[in-house]
Amino acid sequence: MRDDMVPDYHQFLSEVLITEEQLQKRINELGAEITRDYQGKEILLICILRGGVMFLTDLIRQIQVPLAVDFMAVSSYGVGARESSGHVRITLDLNTSVMDRDVILVEDIVDSGRTLASVLELLSTRHPKSMTVCALLDKAERREVHVPIRYRGFTIPNKFVFGYGLDIDEFYRNLPFIGVVDLERYQASR
Ligand code: PRP
Repeated sequence: MRDDMVPDYHQFLSEVLITEEQLQKRINELGAEITRDYQGKEILLICILRGGVMFLTDLIRQIQVPLAVDFMAVSSYGVGARESSGHVRITLDLNTSVMDRDVILVEDIVDSGRTLASVLELLSTRHPKSMTVCALLDKAERREVHVPIRYRGFTIPNKFVFGYGLDIDEFYRNLPFIGVVDLERYQASR
């Protein structure tokens, strides 16, 4: 075995916080809620890369009104960094105009709130008809900047979570559940 292989997550998983079944059930509910709220409208869902991708692809299958998707990337955390720097930079902009569109921003997690606050501020200057936020995970106790979350999957405690789109040093996004990292065991496993 190579020394630099990515460790098996069982070596540092301290608990499964949200199971695959719980995630899918809640996403079905969110999709139904969005379907009800946007009857007769067409939606533009904007996914903030990269963590939001898993959530977006499951969510849109549960929405029964016409929708388009587009992607944006912003950088807030560097590889290996554990805390938000407080700075957000657009690294990939939209291909679509949001003007006069009903927009839903889709995020995997809201932590300090700085990423979404910056994106909301930027996109509001492009005059969407409406703009709401759909976030799978809300780490509410870490909030530094208010963000209006219209659709919320789960409020979670201040723990380092991974899986279902969320990475540890860019890996483990493919896991179908949300787990909690035991950082000491993670570091020891590297
Ligand atoms: C995560 C997450 C949010 C942001 C939340 O992204 O997807 O975009 O951090 O943190 P905040 O509320 O403190 O701003 P990250 O920068 O880790 O990039 P990734 O989605 O590509 O993993």
